[in-house]
Amino acid sequence: MITIGAASHHYMRDTIVVTGGAGFIGSNFILQLMKADTAFVVNLDKLTYAGNLASLAEIAGHPKYHFVRGDIADRNLVSHLLRKHQPRAIVHFAAESHVDRSIHAPGDFIQTNIVGTFALLEEARSYWRELTDGDRSRFRFLHVSTDEVYGSLGPDDPPFTEATSYAPNSPYAASKASSDHLVRAYFHTYGLPAITTNCSNNYGRFQFPEKLIPLMILNALAGKALPVYGDGCNVRDWLYVEDHCEAVAAVLARGRVGETYNIGGRNEKPNLEIVETICDLVDEMVPSSAGRRRLITFVKDRPGHDRRYAMNTNKIKVELGWAPRETFETGIRKTTQWYLDNAAWVRDVTSGAYRQWIETHYSV
Ligand code: NAD
Ligand code: DAU
Repeated sequence: MITIGAASHHYMRDTIVVTGGAGFIGSNFILQLMKADTAFVVNLDKLTYAGNLASLAEIAGHPKYHFVRGDIADRNLVSHLLRKHQPRAIVHFAAESHVDRSIHAPGDFIQTNIVGTFALLEEARSYWRELTDGDRSRFRFLHVSTDEVYGSLGPDDPPFTEATSYAPNSPYAASKASSDHLVRAYFHTYGLPAITTNCSNNYGRFQFPEKLIPLMILNALAGKALPVYGDGCNVRDWLYVEDHCEAVAAVLARGRVGETYNIGGRNEKPNLEIVETICDLVDEMVPSSAGRRRLITFVKDRPGHDRRYAMNTNKIKVELGWAPRETFETGIRKTTQWYLDNAAWVRDVTSGAYRQWIETHYSV
């Protein structure tokens, strides 16, 4: 605890602990936060296959940034970290995030997303109870979750709202739903000032190329098959990652504790349309082997594949004034260009573990 000014008040340091900050959204969030804010950022990340410090290279030596390699389920580590850094908030991104991996091997999803979130909540609660009254009411636990907890929509169903019942369909979605329930319970039972955000599909720089958009960009560039699951008509609501990060920052600053906020792009598109758009963009940017739509290959569907997600984002718009700024046309163009311009980052992440996954998953 430090004392500022006339010593009449004690303030927590302006420190934010971010979990999973070496992943796709977490790294974008930290970079954005450090540009806009005065906060000191502590990034706790286990550096699984999905974590990559190269994404944070530009702030590696920054005096207001500190990286700790560790597991959110390691309670001693988390306890020590919270007491040492005295954060005013925890922004919790760390998770196993890929649906297909959760179908192949759900164990890690149960461990990190459920047991890990439980451990983090327990340690957050213990730290938070020791704070002074003012600090206790200012503290925030912001849990970053997904639209997948709501299940699947039919073509004419209205978008998910914050009141939609949970109906998770994949082991990934069930593990995230479970963590959302724990966060809710910690607010209702203990009063921990927690908020949950549920966001739709993100795209942008630093996304691991197991996910649809970067996988298709890199395969199109390499002249490899573009594996579209099922009939290619599953619909996702795509949001540019920087818009998601701004929404999380708005919720952190002005969201009401105990609430959940839906975040989305109001940008529903069938997968096939996404893949065709990427083919055309790569054709335009690298015209030498144009005609990449010919690489589109329909493959076996994902088991239990949710048909459609869509988000009603009225609540965050009305309460917090947030709306996405990027259009899909500009966002997908920037993203495609970024993957073309950042071959070194791509080389770094597409090493052994990545090649093994692609081999296992797409060789059937
Ligand atoms: P990601 O897989 O790119 O990154 C996850 C990060 O968490 C990695 O850096 C990894 O090393 C770290 N991590 C994993 N297990 C850990 C553990 N036990 N302890 C500490 N760190 C650990 O994920 P992402 O796409 O950036 O997603 C971040 C969060 O946002 C997740 O909670 C995800 O459920 C949620 N989300 C993602 C999307 C999306 O479209 N990607 C959409 C909505 C919500
Ligand atoms: O909706 C939010 C979720 O979006 C997040 O919670 C998850 O962490 C994130 O991974 C993402 O899940 P999806 O399953 O929607 O994303 P993915 O990129 O894996 O797939 C998008 C769509 O594309 C989905 O309908 C499956 C399809 N797909 C995916 C891959 C990897 C293909 O057709 N072919 C592929 O090779």
